[in-house]
Amino acid sequence: MAPNALLEIRHLSVSYFSTPGFLPAVRDISLQVHKEETHALAGETGSGKSTIALAATGLLDPRAKIESGEILYRGRDLRSLRGGDWKEMRGREIAQIFQDARSALNPVLTIEDHLIETLQSHQRRANKEAKARALDLLQEVGIPGGHEKLYPFELSGGICQRVGIALAICNNPHLLIADEPTSSLDSTIQAQILELLLLMKRRHGLALMLISHDLALISQVADRISILYHGRIVESGSKEEIFSSPAHPYTQSLMQCIVGLQHHSEMRPIASISGSVPVPGRQFSGCAFAQRCGIALPECQRTVPARRELSNTHWVACICSNINQGARDGQNRKRNGIEG
Ligand SMILES: Nc1ncnc2c1ncn2[C@@H]1O[C@H](COP(=O)(O)OP(=O)(O)OP(=O)(O)O)[C@@H](O)[C@H]1O
Ligand SMILES: [Mg+2]
Repeated sequence: MAPNALLEIRHLSVSYFSTPGFLPAVRDISLQVHKEETHALAGETGSGKSTIALAATGLLDPRAKIESGEILYRGRDLRSLRGGDWKEMRGREIAQIFQDARSALNPVLTIEDHLIETLQSHQRRANKEAKARALDLLQEVGIPGGHEKLYPFELSGGICQRVGIALAICNNPHLLIADEPTSSLDSTIQAQILELLLLMKRRHGLALMLISHDLALISQVADRISILYHGRIVESGSKEEIFSSPAHPYTQSLMQCIVGLQHHSEMRPIASISGSVPVPGRQFSGCAFAQRCGIALPECQRTVPARRELSNTHWVACICSNINQGARDGQNRKRNGIEG
């Protein structure tokens, strides 16, 4: 394990039980999250992002099966943990915040009591001391005084997510996994929550695994980005590498689809990627993106592309992305299937 790695996932494959049998959701994924870095996982719906997060926190659905691979936290194999060990690991070492913050809260506890309970489940604190710490935490995440006696159903989505962040950091974890933490919020609240998340990350020295399909958001916060397609990481690199020299045709297509504020003034239609992801369970060989890829070679239909290093920090799983870039220019947009 690399000395700086907090979480290391090696060759992880996960399937879900379904009527025709087990359907693969995550295929041979390897990634690392280093101390104090933000590693973003991006990819369209169903690409396996949440499944990776759930596997790393021991919260996979009972229908899920880890087919193979290792999940190491500071070198410790998380797959060997059982109930009590997981309780200790979650919260104290690895914490999670969710897309739907309200449903992640206990509906029958006030937010103060929820925090006190979570603090006392990991730390020996007398009631009075735990209550004082809970109030400090609520203040730290920007919740106005007086809210502590309210129940989740009485709070806005943004306040619920602030509570979620307070609960996540209250036992001083080292790794925070945030699965679409802002995508159910209004855009103004999204920015506030993102800012809070980054402040907490800096203040508490956290590593962050951020899951999002929003590349504009990722561009503001990530150090490293891994791009998922149909359960596989197809490209991984530093934020600069992914945004300035995306190598995989899918990553390049995603970049074309980012809608910025200036988009309207440019008067061009919003881009999309033509075609669709292979249906779960449908047998195919080779690269899952080949059907949608404008530069696919016959070999792409036969062989799953191996990982190819582009730098110490940047790799791509694509056979044809090393074709001379100049030869592609001019045809790239059309051949990549970018519409508009
Ligand atoms: N509990 C489950 N039971 C059966 N199949 C599941 C379950 N959870 C996820 N899947 C399937 O696993 C695949 C990956 O799903 P996952 O939720 O990990 O994707 P995701 O990238 O997080 O998507 P989204 O962006 O929509 O949240 C999908 O095909 C999905 O239908
Ligand atoms: Mg998800």
